[in-house]
Amino acid sequence: TSPLRLGIAGLGTVGAGVLRILQEHPEMLAARAGREITVTAVSARSRGKDRGVALDGYAWEDDAVALARRDDVDVLVELIGGDEGPAKDAVEAALAAGKDVVTANKALLAIHGQALAETAEAAGRVIRFEAAVAGGIPVVKALTEGLAGNEIARVMGVMNGTCNYILTRMEEAGLTYDEAFAEADGLGFLEADPTLDVGGIDAGHKLALLSAIAFGTKVDFEGVELEGIGAVTIEDIRQAADMGYRIKLLGVAQLTGRGLEQRMSPCLVPATSPLGQLQGGTNMVVLEGDAVGQIVLRGAGAGAGPTASAVMADVLDLARGLRLPVFGQPAAGLVAARAARAAIP
Ligand code: HSE
Repeated sequence: TSPLRLGIAGLGTVGAGVLRILQEHPEMLAARAGREITVTAVSARSRGKDRGVALDGYAWEDDAVALARRDDVDVLVELIGGDEGPAKDAVEAALAAGKDVVTANKALLAIHGQALAETAEAAGRVIRFEAAVAGGIPVVKALTEGLAGNEIARVMGVMNGTCNYILTRMEEAGLTYDEAFAEADGLGFLEADPTLDVGGIDAGHKLALLSAIAFGTKVDFEGVELEGIGAVTIEDIRQAADMGYRIKLLGVAQLTGRGLEQRMSPCLVPATSPLGQLQGGTNMVVLEGDAVGQIVLRGAGAGAGPTASAVMADVLDLARGLRLPVFGQPAAGLVAARAARAAIP
């Protein structure tokens, strides 16, 4: 079998992490995929920067769209980020050129996922995005594959590690919101635009993607009721603690008689519950299926290794010829979120 040839657009933390896995474990990956997985070309904004990983042997493109169109690239791995601009242009160019796409871009899919999925499926292509939701936690796979035989009742979770870190530090160290925010910033946790984190937008993007898969609805980020953590005070946290609760930026998605309900907001959770025990910059997703009951997944939601781990899961699926529809069922069959109704009254 011929090798699967990747073009990697974006060489930030995650891009470098993906190259590291490919360079460290070529034989293991080839054995699992049944074919070699190679990188033919890469693109990023600055060529000279030291990324702690060798780039010899890869063709260089300054432009992600040019990378996406190369004849020697089978799969575009989009790790640029952002819902408009080069990331979107490159993904569209790849689909138009008949290539599959693996992306970690939650904003792009939360906003343009339906259109991109329809484009991809009409062209017989796939877009995979395990890394876009909860980093290293394989929650997309859990929903589309492991729990495919379940009617999903509810999806919940803490899906922004930065917010969980800030709330944890306020509680454990008595830091003010501003002090905890500055600490998270110093550790490099924040998105380029921190409002995406603390405004709950980034977590809302992730919840909207999970809803589409779990409930067969069109991605409806606009329909997520959003409230960030900016107004949470130490007093709130202390009062919650006195009652045996913790405050978490919690996402909940479920079908009700009024359609799909999606909320991402600071919530009180019992301190002794799995969600209450989730301290620091970690993520947790809770899935409830009619046959399986409740599943709790916990792990790193960001960072080079965990996010690259999720990217590689998608790359391996494509190398193996596993071509699931983007949201686990054909995009044309997804129903409008507001029209969706619960099976139970
Ligand atoms: N800013 C995100 C977080 C990164 O803190 O969880 C991963 O999407």
